[in-house]
Amino acid sequence: MTVLITGGAGYIGSHMVLDLVARGETPIVLDDLSTGFGWLLPDGVPLVIGDMADTALVQRLIAAHNIDAIAHFAAKIVVPDSVSDPLGYYESNTSKARTLIDTAIKSGIKRFIFSSTAAVYGEPDEMPVSETTRPMPVSPYGRSKLMVEWMLEDARHAHGLETMVLRYFNVAGADPMARSGQATPRATHLIKVACEAATGKRDAMSVFGTDYATRDGTCIRDYIHVSDLAAAHTLALDHLRAGKPGMTLNCAYGHGASVLEVIAAVKRVSGVDFPVHYAPRRAGDPPEIVAKGDQIKTALGWAPRFDDLDVIVQHALAFEAKLATRA
Ligand code: UFG
Repeated sequence: MTVLITGGAGYIGSHMVLDLVARGETPIVLDDLSTGFGWLLPDGVPLVIGDMADTALVQRLIAAHNIDAIAHFAAKIVVPDSVSDPLGYYESNTSKARTLIDTAIKSGIKRFIFSSTAAVYGEPDEMPVSETTRPMPVSPYGRSKLMVEWMLEDARHAHGLETMVLRYFNVAGADPMARSGQATPRATHLIKVACEAATGKRDAMSVFGTDYATRDGTCIRDYIHVSDLAAAHTLALDHLRAGKPGMTLNCAYGHGASVLEVIAAVKRVSGVDFPVHYAPRRAGDPPEIVAKGDQIKTALGWAPRFDDLDVIVQHALAFEAKLATRA
């Protein structure tokens, strides 16, 4: 049995690859390398460069490698870009996912793991959010992912495709051994940006909005270490392989940090007091998104190993140092 990982050369997918390899599995990676990098993959893991919507290619891979499950990571992920290019996002994240799901079903696949996002909740009426909080996405990105959730639900009823939908909160950090991490240029995510400031890759950084109704006026997010998130995928795979029904689960620790708390952590861990500017609010930022975070533990027996902001930052900084040696 082999897992096909779309987007496996990307930030999160490559960490699932590492997790699977650590327990003796060799997944097959399908990635168009639009934002991924082959060097993030461990030796011996086959990388097929191609498109997840290339039906003939995916059918060939499923047949040739005895694929029993698909973990689908390949997607566009930048929320503001989805606002300026909604149709591009619906094409990559929704239309191509539809084709992949169709190919999977026609090829006899019964297990599917889908990378969804906290962005499906939009600006929710309750906080913390649980899996039953009503999704009300406010960006094309969130909508592009929610539509796939709906397709998968329908495909499950019609065709028996069992799916684990994993809704990621704010993913950060890097592999503790720095084998993989966030390598995509022009990053916009807070911890990556702050680590770039701390390592001199940028001169300064900005805090977007200091007048929110939060404990220090800046936005609060539930940051989850990418390796803990990867482990959730491996457990989700085990869950499906054990013949259990698919589920939708929030992937988060259940507590939040503010922008200023994150910046303080990066300064503390790096020992660098980089310049920080206070800027106006960024369009579309909800003041706070924190998950309840308990259901995934109960459902999958997930036990996070890196639920500590300083550790997340430490690993992110170590990966920035590795990236600097490759530049
Ligand atoms: N921020 C700054 N300065 C920066 C970068 C970010 O102040 O240079 C702030 C943002 O304004 C926001 C917080 O840091 O308040 C977190 O921003 P990120 O860009 O790191 O992450 P988001 O919360 O905007 O987005 C994340 C994921 C999305 C997902 C969304 C769901 O990256 O994929 O959570 O809420 F859709």
